[in-house]
Amino acid sequence: MSGRSIQGGFFITFEGPEGAGKTTQIVRLQEALARRGYDVCVTREPGGTALGERLRDLIKHFDDPEGVTPEAELLLFGASRAQHLRLRIEPHLARGGVVLCDRFADSTTVYQGIARGLDPDFIAAMHRFTIGRRWPDLTIVLDLDVDVGRERARQRGRLAPGPADRIEAEARPFHEAVRNGFLALAATAPERFRVIPADADPAAVHARILLEVDRALGGVP
Ligand code: TMP
Repeated sequence: MSGRSIQGGFFITFEGPEGAGKTTQIVRLQEALARRGYDVCVTREPGGTALGERLRDLIKHFDDPEGVTPEAELLLFGASRAQHLRLRIEPHLARGGVVLCDRFADSTTVYQGIARGLDPDFIAAMHRFTIGRRWPDLTIVLDLDVDVGRERARQRGRLAPGPADRIEAEARPFHEAVRNGFLALAATAPERFRVIPADADPAAVHARILLEVDRALGGVP
């Protein structure tokens, strides 16, 4: 199919609690959009650049007994995002492509702001500094019961054993705060967010996502 280009590109992010199946759904959506002729870039946060991937490893697996303070963690996510937006996301959008990003600034608002309790005004200022007005055009929140999600994440860990992830390893109330935080945040901007239950089978979840994306893209020249 001939390439389809969108003036200014189209930026879609995926958010939600752990184990909601974002990665699986992003791959399915990538395939569906590529079949429709869009130039699709799949990327993730933290990560997406050489620096970002190094920071991702540090953020997730830093195991020195000194640990990582919440403030330092916040700034590491900010550093990864600044690099990622300038070097990967903006150039692909400028070429008229679609960017599918596994987590973005809303994760910082929820994980570091709501669940870790860091100053929301500082986080908003950090977003202004790192992304300015380049908020996603559409954000899919895959919503899932915390216990189901954590069990899925545990199973995934068993399939691909490795060092435990510092954030996944947080206690249940932290993950409850994350889930509720995403739902509350989504309710503040319904024009950008779509909350999709992630407990159905992956094909059904994909169909819901594709419907929302087609609707959103349908409104784009
Ligand atoms: P994941 O998306 O592969 O699960 O790993 C990213 C982890 O980092 C996940 O636990 C959510 C967390 N995170 C934050 O706490 N703040 C952020 O800004 C981002 C992008 C991710």
